[in-house]
Amino acid sequence: MDGTAGAGDPGDDREGAQAGSPVARPLAWPAPGAGPVVLPSLLSADFARLAEQVRAAEAAGAAGLHLDVMDGHFVPNLTFGPPIIAAVRRLTSLPLDVHLMVELPEALLPAVAEAGADVVTVHVEATPHVHRALQMIRALGCRAGVALNPGTPATAVEPLLAEVDLVLVMSVNPGFAGQAFLPLALDKLRALRAMLPAAGPRPWLEVDGGIDPKTAPLAAAAGADLLVAGSAVFNQRAPVEANLARLRQAVATSASTRP
Ligand code: DX5
Ligand code: ZN
Repeated sequence: MDGTAGAGDPGDDREGAQAGSPVARPLAWPAPGAGPVVLPSLLSADFARLAEQVRAAEAAGAAGLHLDVMDGHFVPNLTFGPPIIAAVRRLTSLPLDVHLMVELPEALLPAVAEAGADVVTVHVEATPHVHRALQMIRALGCRAGVALNPGTPATAVEPLLAEVDLVLVMSVNPGFAGQAFLPLALDKLRALRAMLPAAGPRPWLEVDGGIDPKTAPLAAAAGADLLVAGSAVFNQRAPVEANLARLRQAVATSASTRP
């Protein structure tokens, strides 16, 4: 599963890249449809031992790290911003998948790109000018993602599907780790998958929230390429390596027994 080097990178000759904009770093993720892979979310990591936790995820073969930036407005919680992203960047060469839960994220984009993000995802609900924000992300040399809250229909991002590298389906209301998976995300993943071309380049489909060994196979079967997992990876029950292995095993077992 994880670590199919370079196979899926749609960024090299992506449409929409603006002349003169920096070229995005290659991303060693499987091509959309060839995964899935698990991205640990640092939101559930022990921030007092951040370096140790990042290294544990890397040693366990994580395909990348998911970083949740919250502003206390778009979501009722605050986390961290560019200085912490830059610190994580110094700790690892893993792809950094930055999820901005921030109102009017445009102003933050240059600092997030400068901090070393590989993928920057903005919410379709967070700005009236999401198309412009996505163009800005690519112009800054990053992959552009668009996210949908649970209450937002898949059709809200349909006009943007040719302009993005990733679509993030929230399977909880964003703001906190450890919430229960909302099954409505499965229908949304299937609806998005049906909107995307059957062959040729297409964005990765990512799911975020409540992913554990029970829900990960469901999300994968519904079309998710990237499975974000916070509390199922970083917890007191088992080491990061064992938790990641359990998630991968659950997905692999379910895929091999699927009719
Ligand atoms: C929630 C964040 C998620 C969070 C997921 O708003 O976007 O990335 O870390 O945590 P779990 O996997 O515990 O639901
Ligand atoms: Zn997230």
